[in-house]
Amino acid sequence: MASSETMTTQRSVTFVNYTTPASITTKEINLDKCYSDDEIVINLKAAALNPIDFIVHGLCFPYITRNDLKTYSRDYAGVIVRRGANVDPKWQIGDRVNGMFGHIFGPHGTLSDYLVMDPTKQAAIAHIDNSIDFETAASWPLVFGSAYAVLFHRKQKWTENSKILVIGASTSVSNCLAQIAKNHLKVGTVVGICNQNSIERNKEFGFDYLLPYNDDEGNDVTVKNVQQFIEEKLNGEKFDLIFDSVGNSQFFPIMDQVLKPKNTNSYFITVAGDAKYNYKKPGLLDSFAALKAPFRALNPFRKFNYAFPFVKKEANYMELGNRMLEKGTFKPQIDSVYSFNEFDKAIERLKSNRAKGKVVVKID
Ligand SMILES: NC(=O)c1ccc[n+]([C@@H]2O[C@H](COP(=O)([O-])OP(=O)(O)OC[C@H]3O[C@@H](n4cnc5c(N)ncnc54)[C@H](OP(=O)(O)O)[C@@H]3O)[C@@H](O)[C@H]2O)c1
Repeated sequence: MASSETMTTQRSVTFVNYTTPASITTKEINLDKCYSDDEIVINLKAAALNPIDFIVHGLCFPYITRNDLKTYSRDYAGVIVRRGANVDPKWQIGDRVNGMFGHIFGPHGTLSDYLVMDPTKQAAIAHIDNSIDFETAASWPLVFGSAYAVLFHRKQKWTENSKILVIGASTSVSNCLAQIAKNHLKVGTVVGICNQNSIERNKEFGFDYLLPYNDDEGNDVTVKNVQQFIEEKLNGEKFDLIFDSVGNSQFFPIMDQVLKPKNTNSYFITVAGDAKYNYKKPGLLDSFAALKAPFRALNPFRKFNYAFPFVKKEANYMELGNRMLEKGTFKPQIDSVYSFNEFDKAIERLKSNRAKGKVVVKID
């Protein structure tokens, strides 16, 4: 029989399917028995939200998913409180760690008191320096990992002559991408496109130039501004990478005017697909728009290199992010921090699609 100290109440934010709102549920767990020899138990201190969290919830249809509780969220920071006998000695009880826990409709999420996981399978985990607080540590793994996949997985060579165009310069993924490109890879030119009201704010993340996507009348001037910029500031030279983090398909018909030729290993890479997701009510139609991306990626007649990467469960980006953070060359942007009981306000803030940086939940 377990001693009373090892029994504890675990709170988690859960849902059954899209008809049930996310809510806090509790269960009693035995901390000494809830893990296997290959697993660690992390006492979570903070989690960060990402659009994928409510997109997955919105697409959880009752007739194709089980009737059990599914958990929220992927980014985390916390302290290891138990370790199995076979776990790599680099993970010890008391270690402060952060990471990205990958799951779809899983029973363990990071809006919870405890996370039980095998660090060899959930490899996007790293140690946090003592100088970094848990909210900051939890705020960046998924978006930083997405930016890392964009910049590193296509074997593009980055130099001071390289040119990157970022569509959606205000998003958290773009924010990380600009900081990795400028501060770590020393890319010569990084140009961002964002709302004209966000230009001043985005300057501090390292963008060399920022162009508005809207004018005073609210017209979309994205393409016009980029064409004019290439002509006036780049003397007609095109981009090595166009990175889209909002779902923009305006450049497809004129790709040869903005992106260098395919044989230079230039790329158009999106993490959002062909169209802007409706954050308020993600549904199947949005998914079909996003699903055009894999078909585009497989199209053998495409005249430009195109990719739609997903963040992976890999240690590389966690180590790079924590190293840059310690050196002061990466500053995660936090929009707001909510208490655990206010998790629904945190979700609403992210759904507004106006958050400037990450929405973090403190697991107090
Ligand atoms: N494939 C993957 O593995 C992966 C991983 C991470 C994220 N994603 C996707 O990447 C996208 C960005 O995620 P995130 O967490 O970085 O976003 P986020 O931080 O929540 O982005 C919010 C920002 O988007 C900007 N925005 C809103 N509407 C816009 C529009 N029509 N055009 C340009 N910018 C607009 C707003 O800034 P302004 O007011 O300045 O425009 C807002 O501050 C999401 O679609 C997400 O699902 C995919």
